[in-house]
Amino acid sequence: MVLGVDLGTSSIKLLLLDTKGNILYSSSASYPFIQDGLNSEQDPLLWWNGFCSCLKDLEKRIDLSKIEGISFSGQMHGLVILDENDEVIRPCILWNDGRTSEECKYLNEVIGKDFLMEHTGNIALVGFTAPKLLYLKNKEKENFAKIHKIMLPKDYLIYRLTGKFVSDVSDASGTLLFDVKNRKWSKEMLDIVGISQKQLPYVLESCDYVSTPLNSVSSSLHLSPSLKVFVGGGDQAMNALGTGTIDAHHLSISLGTSGVLFFPLKSFPKVNKGNLHLFCDGNKNYHQMAVTLSCALSFKWWIEDILHSKNYDEIFTNALNTPKNELIFLPYLSGERSPLYEPRIRGLFYGLDSNTSSLDMTRAVLEGVAFSLKDCLNKAKINIKSYHVRIVGGGSKSTSFISLLSNVLGVNIYTINTSEGGAFGAGLLSLVGLHYFNSIEDATKQCIRDEKEYLYDEKEYEYYENKFKKYRKYQKMCLKSITE
Ligand code: XUL
Repeated sequence: MVLGVDLGTSSIKLLLLDTKGNILYSSSASYPFIQDGLNSEQDPLLWWNGFCSCLKDLEKRIDLSKIEGISFSGQMHGLVILDENDEVIRPCILWNDGRTSEECKYLNEVIGKDFLMEHTGNIALVGFTAPKLLYLKNKEKENFAKIHKIMLPKDYLIYRLTGKFVSDVSDASGTLLFDVKNRKWSKEMLDIVGISQKQLPYVLESCDYVSTPLNSVSSSLHLSPSLKVFVGGGDQAMNALGTGTIDAHHLSISLGTSGVLFFPLKSFPKVNKGNLHLFCDGNKNYHQMAVTLSCALSFKWWIEDILHSKNYDEIFTNALNTPKNELIFLPYLSGERSPLYEPRIRGLFYGLDSNTSSLDMTRAVLEGVAFSLKDCLNKAKINIKSYHVRIVGGGSKSTSFISLLSNVLGVNIYTINTSEGGAFGAGLLSLVGLHYFNSIEDATKQCIRDEKEYLYDEKEYEYYENKFKKYRKYQKMCLKSITE
């Protein structure tokens, strides 16, 4: 048995697989993240406590000492800092935090986008880690001075579990401190931010073995002292493994809190076409991706916070059965990363009148999220029809939304036999590390298959293509109102 751990933004999930990659059990624990204006933070202790409570839960069903391997998928870009006593200095500044516009401006305009692209493969975006360090250097000088170790969220769990200060190439790619092309920390970027390599973890490939757990931890958690810990990677790279998105014919769409379009590359590209993230993947290659920040977050906000319901599927289906309407929703509840790169923009309903019903508004929310993914796709400048498109994540539980999305994007979409994404990818990595499979390709081929096909309809596509023009019009209007 092995465990794949997905350290998410709203919960942590532990997925137990047998040696053939079949899912046996899972357990998850939820926790809050604190959003205040542009700020978004979380206490790393919540992750560790969640991890321990999920293990306790699994222990009701299995003998934990029988688990042979474990690997991690983690929310990316979060800045976790420890002092010389290994105490967390301040809450983690999360991937969807928007406070670092000034620092990004400095990096993109003074240091220069060309320099950043040359040394990291990417430009500065507010969610990335390097701008957060610059923010602390400028605005939280005491905290900055105390930094002994800088790590990413999943690295914190690995550090608590093993005492090893390590990360992996896919997660390190999202820091803007990492030379993605050469798969190592960028000396130039460390100098710009004012940190040294000693403060950063040793970087491994995602499939690499880290160590066994600390004795004190294995005995208190009832894990085997010979449990093998593999490093894993950022949630998107692990999600790609968990959906079989490991060659240049596959593209995956992940509908988590954020919505992600992910496509592997054959090799490091000459030009970073389309201004997307260009990162190392979990299989010793590279990938590009676009990340729209409020995907399932928009669904949750609308259904739970506004409509006070939990009945997602029924409401979504009813909404998509109502006649089409002119209403537009812009899903920018946490600002926006891809394709706008504008943390200050906020959500909008446009076109309300006294006849507008809550189902009309639900339809607009669903369309708005699909349009944001279409906007990302246009930025990617790829022909989506040349890919086999698979979909996973919480949002993919709604079949009516997948149908809508396939019509909006104009492509057939496939669900697969597991929607566990990152946790499943991390579990497969452990199985490869333990030699139950020969390679990641072998594991994905044997364990992942298409389940249901959603065929798009040309007429619907044309309708949404026209409505998307309106979405873009109101988006421009909102962008203009921020900069005025
Ligand atoms: C990827 C990204 C999100 C977070 C949270 O760039 O920001 O996927 O990792 O899931």
